[in-house]
Amino acid sequence: MKPDFDFIARETEYVETAHRCIKTPIPVPESFPLFQEMEKYEIHANMGQPPVVWHHTEDGYKICDPYGNKWIDFSSAIFITNAGHGNPDIVDAIVKTAQKPMLASFLFATEERVEAAREYISVCPIPDAKVYMLSAGTEACEMALKVMRVNGVMKNPKKKVIVTMKDSFHGRTLGSQQLGGSAALSAWITSMDPDIIHAPYPTSFEHDWADPENPNFTEDGMFKSFTDTIDAAGIDYDDICGVFIESYHAPLCYPLPTSYAKRLRKFCDEHDIILGMDEIQIGGCRSGKFWCFMNNDIIPDLFTSAKGSSSSLPQSCLFGRRALLDVFEAQGLTSTHSGSPVCCAASAANIRFLRDNRMWEVAAEKGKIIDKRLHEIKAKYPDRVAYVGGIGMGWSIHFANAKKEPQPEFTREVLLRSMEMGLLFSAPNNHGASLRCMAPLTIPVEALEEGLDVFDAAIGKADKMMPKYTD
Ligand SMILES: Cc1ncc(COP(=O)(O)O)c(C=O)c1O
Repeated sequence: MKPDFDFIARETEYVETAHRCIKTPIPVPESFPLFQEMEKYEIHANMGQPPVVWHHTEDGYKICDPYGNKWIDFSSAIFITNAGHGNPDIVDAIVKTAQKPMLASFLFATEERVEAAREYISVCPIPDAKVYMLSAGTEACEMALKVMRVNGVMKNPKKKVIVTMKDSFHGRTLGSQQLGGSAALSAWITSMDPDIIHAPYPTSFEHDWADPENPNFTEDGMFKSFTDTIDAAGIDYDDICGVFIESYHAPLCYPLPTSYAKRLRKFCDEHDIILGMDEIQIGGCRSGKFWCFMNNDIIPDLFTSAKGSSSSLPQSCLFGRRALLDVFEAQGLTSTHSGSPVCCAASAANIRFLRDNRMWEVAAEKGKIIDKRLHEIKAKYPDRVAYVGGIGMGWSIHFANAKKEPQPEFTREVLLRSMEMGLLFSAPNNHGASLRCMAPLTIPVEALEEGLDVFDAAIGKADKMMPKYTD
């Protein structure tokens, strides 16, 4: 069952704290005409989020509707607003650029694009790096694919195979969905690229061989899952041009094990393979380092970012070694909105904010609170919660039965009960059974703790209301 939301207003208990306020039935009856109009003009696929009208933020971590309600935000608008919603530095940069006025520039030079590129490179650990600024995350991943392929076949026409991970997420366009390796999401594609193959992502939730608590676990055994996939496809390692992997597995917020990351880096070096990583969900300090791969103490050859690297307007990036990105001649790559002045001004302000306030340290510290509290919740509701995982301030909790079968109805109840108490999540992912705790990194500790308490209480309410899972 898809966890979509109905428009039946439920009476709520009045809530008012320094961080939350619920004073109307939820969803708010006055909001229904707006949703009806949204559905009338926009595609149905856009209708999946919890029925809250976003009007403005207070203090960067509260979402306020036009009817007087306020939620502690655990969505960060799908993990965008690492620097806080409506961060004043970003707002100022946007306003100044808009008031010049200068709104569009294509690839013409502007001060804003050079400033953004300079700030991006200041936080990019790849030596001698360059950045290609784009609009959507999926566009950056498409470009990663292209850069890996083009560089590979320039060396040797057979060097064209790309290895990625099963059931990963790199976006919704043709190339990105093939990189993503989800059978369900790529069912619409009639001719799949035969030179993209998928290894299993090493998560202990899904695979015994990736579970350090399994007595038969070894680090070499875990990495064998990668080489076994390539061997089974009969591919010569030297014919691989690129490996592309999420630096943490987005569906489960599962960080890449360091031993695996290091073996991957070594494997790529030994076979002259470009190692690319997707930082779109977890990059921009959320992981407790500026980029999540820094937790693994490796440096990829290229990586994609978006969401938290702008904290606001649509801008994505492909970072990479100069030699890899500069193989295209002038005008050989274009994107209409690449380096849009207002997006660039916003992104530059965001990078400065994250870097100058050492927001990775903030995320690492607050992340300890989330880690502890979510594990307590798992221990408190062992029959409801099958998995808790994450890193820094990027966490997921998965509701499944003893056979690990997802429980979307229960998850939806938890989300609704949270919403009625003033805590906001984005729609569940992972077969509708995972809720992601992704507050803006700027959230005050007291509000974060209050949000986690509300979450605990919401699970308790759902537990009482809903029948036990069946196995
Ligand atoms: C890990 C990852 N890669 C790529 C994307 C695609 O980004 P976009 O939606 O901006 O195309 C997402 C979006 O959720 C993501 O989480």
